[in-house]
Amino acid sequence: MTVLIDGKKIANEIKQEIASEVELLKENKRKVPYLAAILVGNNPASKTYVMAKEKACKSVGIKSTIIDLNENISQKELLQNVEMLNQNKTHDGFIVQLPLPNHISTQKIIENINPIKDVDGFHPMNIGKMVNGLPSFLPATPKGIMELLKRYKISTEGKHCVILGRSNIVGTPLSIMLSRKSPNANCTVTLCHSKTKNIKKFIEKADILIAALGIKHFITADMVKKNAIIIDVGIHRIKSNEKKSGYKLVGDVDFENVYTKCSYITPVPGGVGPMTIVSLLSNTLQAAKINMH
Ligand SMILES: NC(=O)c1ccc[n+]([C@@H]2O[C@H](COP(=O)([O-])OP(=O)(O)OC[C@H]3O[C@@H](n4cnc5c(N)ncnc54)[C@H](OP(=O)(O)O)[C@@H]3O)[C@@H](O)[C@H]2O)c1
Repeated sequence: MTVLIDGKKIANEIKQEIASEVELLKENKRKVPYLAAILVGNNPASKTYVMAKEKACKSVGIKSTIIDLNENISQKELLQNVEMLNQNKTHDGFIVQLPLPNHISTQKIIENINPIKDVDGFHPMNIGKMVNGLPSFLPATPKGIMELLKRYKISTEGKHCVILGRSNIVGTPLSIMLSRKSPNANCTVTLCHSKTKNIKKFIEKADILIAALGIKHFITADMVKKNAIIIDVGIHRIKSNEKKSGYKLVGDVDFENVYTKCSYITPVPGGVGPMTIVSLLSNTLQAAKINMH
């Protein structure tokens, strides 16, 4: 029987663990963790994400603030805001919500974030530490996926894991985490991308298949090996009469048809998404603990 990997449930469990730790800090008169988010411009998706992060912080007792900046802000001014957050003692960690407007170099902004406040884990120093297996802030989505596999006690050791998509925030860091020499990893990883030839031949060999390419229902039942473990990272908003809002979310996997063929699968919504947000909370708590020493 197929097991539905309930990311919402696991995320709520982790939220409770974080809330208890935050409560303990308060009882001991220690500093309450504080996250800041820089939001540039009016991208509706970015606004929704930042507000969801703020709400999640509130739910576990983490303080948060959103710094709203104009779409036309210069790179220099944005860097000044980053530096202000690097320096101040109030915020333990901060994120700069991506994507940024085209006139701003995302890489330049990321490189100027103080690595000990980089709770998104995108700074080259944190990426480098992750590659070397040293303690660091792990990027939220891959960290959340690793946690889901661990909490569902899914054995990864020796398995062939095929990841579709090599972005810096999902596919590439995940390929490193899953191939690490560790009991919760030890996978043999194949990382596919848009230049991979005959991608189907890799997909059908996957014991664990992670779809993070951003193409709606790309993975169909005929492609998937029987009893494979399927992690769907994609998020797509499509029109739907079934929902009051007039739209629904679907993933990179054709869930309804793939469900019966695999052994484990994450739904969209309610799979990887909630784990991404909770990983940011966990990184913020980690940053606050670092700041206490
Ligand atoms: N659930 C969550 O919390 C969460 C978090 C982040 C992202 N997402 C979602 O996950 C998806 C991927 O996000 P992302 O930011 O990683 O995407 P991205 O930066 O757009 O990267 C997409 C990757 O997929 C590859 N790709 C595109 N078309 C392909 C094809 N036909 N065959 C094979 N590979 C192909 C690209 O290859 P090239 O490198 O060759 O261009 C690239 O590596 C999106 O739907 C996004 O909304 C969800």
